[in-house]
Amino acid sequence: PLPDEVESLVARMTVEEKAGQLTLMAAAWAGGAATALNPAGAGASFEGQLRDVRRGRLTGVFNGNGAVMAQRMQRAAMTQSRLKIPLLFAADIIHGFRTVFPVPLAEAASFDPELARRTARAAGAEAAASGIDWTFAPMVDIARDARWGRGVEGAGEDVLLGRLMAAARVRGFQGENGLADPRAVAACAKHFVAYGAGEGGLDYNSVDVSERTLREVYFPPFEAALAAGAPTVMASFNEISGVPATANDWLLTDVLRREWGFGGLVVSDYTGDEELIAHGLAADAREATRLAFLAGVDMSMQSGFYLKHLPDLVAKGEVPAARLDEAVRRVLALKVTLGLFDDPFRRIDPARERAEVRTPATLALAREAGARSIVLLKNEEQLLPLPRAGKRIALIGPFVSGQHDLIGPWNVYGTDADATDLATAVRSMVADAAQVSVTPGSAILAPLPGGIAAAEAAARAADVVVLAVGEAQDMSGEAQSRSAVVVPEPQLALARAVATTGTPLVVLLRTGRALALDDAVLGARAVAVTWFLGSQDGPAIADMLFGRVAPSARLPVSFPRATGQSPYYYAHKSTGRPNPPGPLQPFKAHYREFEQSALFPFGHGLTYGDVVYSDLSLSSDRLAPGDALTVRATVMNRGHHPADEVVQLYVHDVAASVTRPIRELKAFQRVTLSPGERKTVSFTLRRDDLLFVGRDLKRMVEPGAFRLWVAPSAEAEGVNGSFMLG
Ligand code: IFM
Repeated sequence: PLPDEVESLVARMTVEEKAGQLTLMAAAWAGGAATALNPAGAGASFEGQLRDVRRGRLTGVFNGNGAVMAQRMQRAAMTQSRLKIPLLFAADIIHGFRTVFPVPLAEAASFDPELARRTARAAGAEAAASGIDWTFAPMVDIARDARWGRGVEGAGEDVLLGRLMAAARVRGFQGENGLADPRAVAACAKHFVAYGAGEGGLDYNSVDVSERTLREVYFPPFEAALAAGAPTVMASFNEISGVPATANDWLLTDVLRREWGFGGLVVSDYTGDEELIAHGLAADAREATRLAFLAGVDMSMQSGFYLKHLPDLVAKGEVPAARLDEAVRRVLALKVTLGLFDDPFRRIDPARERAEVRTPATLALAREAGARSIVLLKNEEQLLPLPRAGKRIALIGPFVSGQHDLIGPWNVYGTDADATDLATAVRSMVADAAQVSVTPGSAILAPLPGGIAAAEAAARAADVVVLAVGEAQDMSGEAQSRSAVVVPEPQLALARAVATTGTPLVVLLRTGRALALDDAVLGARAVAVTWFLGSQDGPAIADMLFGRVAPSARLPVSFPRATGQSPYYYAHKSTGRPNPPGPLQPFKAHYREFEQSALFPFGHGLTYGDVVYSDLSLSSDRLAPGDALTVRATVMNRGHHPADEVVQLYVHDVAASVTRPIRELKAFQRVTLSPGERKTVSFTLRRDDLLFVGRDLKRMVEPGAFRLWVAPSAEAEGVNGSFMLG
């Protein structure tokens, strides 16, 4: 229930003022240039928005430009509007604010939800000082198709990792002291739902997935985010089996509100209601408004449709007045929870905004998170780590130096200009900076005149080459689907040329998605995925290269053998004709060219140690109802460096009333091992870990046989066994 004075506001509001509370707009930047990410800000005038605020036509704005702007707007709301309802300031704080942390996909590679909680906490606190109350994050969409560009904003392909990261990020943004805390921002679980399942990996495209897959794969991270306390949900752009999410009453009302009991706020995505016309669901703006609102979208982002059409729809009885009040109450309840009715300026703090950004602590956290997000794919003859002295190092490639492509996509407030590149970091870490040469060799998408010859000369003059190739940061993110998930050809030509020199080669992959890797890359002695690591991109990579931090991250998405395999994910079904490991067999499920497995599977990642798995033991060969099974395995580091190993537990339900994935991750644990050290890892498996969505679309378990693996990746054998349930 709302406090009495807020409830009495609802009674005094006009229908227009109510529709205004349901209307959110991109901020017109006061005195600041609009960015590509905020084009609407360029069109709308700040004075015009102030007028709307005074007239009660806006609930708030998003992606504004800081505390001074927010202060002016909030002052207008609190002193010049009729009802003095505080404004809500939202923003896309996706992976940092002024301090930029690794892109969320990279951070998921850390397999460390606590790390994600800490970076979200730091980002939330920084953003809150600028007057931001609400972030449009985390994105909790499962992404199984490497072609889709927005996988970079989420936690990858796996349901368990997705759930854990979703909950951690919500807790991080919101803090531990309640949402009224001036350093807390409200989280928004987006995009509801199956936005990552667009046909062909095309952004915004139609989705046609079964209710079973929704319940088993796409819903759980949302359920986890809500259980962790996210008070808002954003509807996705896509349709699902013929009904766009923005007008999907089954999704937004039957599932979200009735089944899950969600009492919070649903916001559309940017012009999501307007897009019902292009989808071919609504004939005009008025109908689009009615469909979105009645389906369960409380707040309209950017189209202005609710403001324009809800009053008339209510007047004509096409939208019940009580439904309008319900939505308004949800908005006001969020503002109450955020403490805005007590102090509308609680987060608007220009002094704190200046003092508490890019602090030594947040930059150190960005560096730590960066280093712990790097996935080492291969490391032949222990080429890495490199010594800090005594070797001539050639840094080659379009990503080794310069203030570009460091922080990654979806950054409204961070800038590459504030980030540190690899060349700077390497030079500052080696004993003799004169031993480091820097050669671009190629542009990102086109050859550089003379580039290859210069790179070959640099490689010949060096003891080791560190070659950074991959995607520009604007090649992933929204509307950045790719039909071929590859390193662009000019960079592959560079890699081939450098390889012919014979100088030992380390390849660093700059990417916001899984890539199908060419022999030009795979032939290198060491390959690491460095994603986009944020403000401390270069130092984090240098920490890994020189062994200051041992690599410990794991792929959160399977790297396919070729784009044509997309969508490829480890937890696929067996089919009736699986090709067993080994040679390709006729009339079995595989492509003509290669087996149906990953080039590098989900969960894969090396450390500088060399870890072997042995001695699987189960506390029983039967898991009885209400009981638990203890699964133990031994891991031993036979290498010469310490190891930071992510030990993973997978199961497979051998025969069930619906087909089950060939493996599903059920738990993981991080273990550190000194050279020569051996440890026993112990997991507890319960009946609830084995639930699946049955034929009646309800979660259930069935007695029967299960296989089980304790392994270093989703496709490694590790140590394995079996047990009976029931
Ligand atoms: O939050 C985003 C969303 O993820 C994509 N469309 C725009 C929104 C607001 O910027």
